Amino acid sequence: MAASKKLLILVASPRRKGNSATLANAVQLGAEESGTTVSVAFIDDYITSFLRDCRVCRKADGECSIRDRFRELFFDLFLPADGVVIASPVYWYGLSAQAKAFFDRTFCYYAASYPDSEQVVESMTRKRIGLVMASEETYPGASLGMVHQIQEYSRYTHSEFVGYVRGVGNSRSEVNRDPTEPVVAAETLGREMFTRRFSDFRIDTERSGRVWGEDPSS
Ligand SMILES: Cc1cc2nc3c(=O)[nH]c(=O)nc-3n(C[C@H](O)[C@H](O)[C@H](O)COP(=O)(O)O)c2cc1C
Repeated sequence: MAASKKLLILVASPRRKGNSATLANAVQLGAEESGTTVSVAFIDDYITSFLRDCRVCRKADGECSIRDRFRELFFDLFLPADGVVIASPVYWYGLSAQAKAFFDRTFCYYAASYPDSEQVVESMTRKRIGLVMASEETYPGASLGMVHQIQEYSRYTHSEFVGYVRGVGNSRSEVNRDPTEPVVAAETLGREMFTRRFSDFRIDTERSGRVWGEDPSS
């Protein structure tokens, strides 16, 4: 039997029962239904500092000297994962500082000055990536910056940006009342993280003219 896929859900809000956490729970539910092994981590539990100047603060053995749990989150949960879903509130039309700090801090270990950086880079690539977001405002542009940033992260790491869900709410778990049903969509995203069709063509990509195969009704 094939080993089950590993999914990490990174919650980037400080609110334990907030809207990002509600969407993250739905992703977890869907993923577990499809046999995926899921870990959920609140970034706040692991990171207490921004990235610093590695030349100044890297230890002699190459390790990061910041005394928090980032290393554990990155090496034990992020690198081994086949897929990662970022669950972030919209803060100032972008990812929360927690999410941004997570991505910034990875630099310490993929930079060439870290002794095992080649192995780290290899493990950072070719994941399936998803994004769930909570915002107070409803207009589409409020969350597009985040979608763009995760798209570029995915492109840069040869990863596949499988999909995103945006839920609207402000008070804790109010996203449950969003009539566009983002909680249902988040559960579907979780269920399909490793099976949803992904395509990103170049002009010379060979493909048939049909995306979903022959249409039996035509
Ligand atoms: C510092 C801060 C900045 C925010 N910026 C925005 C924003 O630019 N646009 C928006 O729609 N909502 C904004 N919000 C509202 C949150 O996105 C919204 O309350 C969301 O549901 C919070 O998610 P959470 O429950 O996971 O923390 C902001 C909230 C905070 C605390």
